[in-house]
Amino acid sequence: MDDDVVLSAPLFANMDSEQTRALQASMTRLELTRGDVLFHEGEPGDRLYVIASGKIKLGRRSSDGRENLLAVLGPGEMFGELSLFDPGPRTATASVVADARLLELGHQDLVDWLQSSPTVAKHLLEALARRLRRTNEALADLVFSDVPGRVAKALLDLSTRFGEQVDDGLRVAHDLTQEELAQLVGASRETVNKALADFAARGWVRREGRAVVLLDIDRLERRAR
Ligand code: CMP
Repeated sequence: MDDDVVLSAPLFANMDSEQTRALQASMTRLELTRGDVLFHEGEPGDRLYVIASGKIKLGRRSSDGRENLLAVLGPGEMFGELSLFDPGPRTATASVVADARLLELGHQDLVDWLQSSPTVAKHLLEALARRLRRTNEALADLVFSDVPGRVAKALLDLSTRFGEQVDDGLRVAHDLTQEELAQLVGASRETVNKALADFAARGWVRREGRAVVLLDIDRLERRAR
């Protein structure tokens, strides 16, 4: 288990070795494979998860069955905290996009940590503020940006988590199907595909199955604005 990744996550940064050991002892480890569903939107929730490895998607379903992805999270990131701090049902369904190892922390353990460590509390507030900032931006993009602009932004956002430098660019192994990528952008699969094909024709990206190599980040950034 990549405990190191978890313990170096922003949430638990700057802890001394005794605190680190205590935290490790209070967390339970989980191994999941692609397609597994950890919890469903609407279920009661009493634990928070930190990703050690793999990818988790958080999605919501409309009453007519359409799906929208709120986020795809990777190593070092946490989820499942909303129904702890604002007791109520899970606000999204969490499913595994790429085989994942997670650590889970129960409600009472988290409350104990927050009370004993102002640093953990501060980091948690920072993570929530970052999430709200990103969500506000995504909301504005849905209103103000066109689909290619949102596709460019989604690729750049995924690259900050999953990007890996290769000879000719930044390879982003997102592991998402075309349908999932469209759900993340909030558009139809056809429109997202068209935008990706156009980016590829211009030499800005190269498509490789469930990965994309970003070849011209400047142009993508300009398109995302
Ligand atoms: P919870 O509601 O317990 O379960 C679903 C989780 O998805 C939620 O906690 C958050 O951790 C996470 N989540 C909800 N909305 C967003 C969002 N807009 N961006 C990233 N993560 C989110």
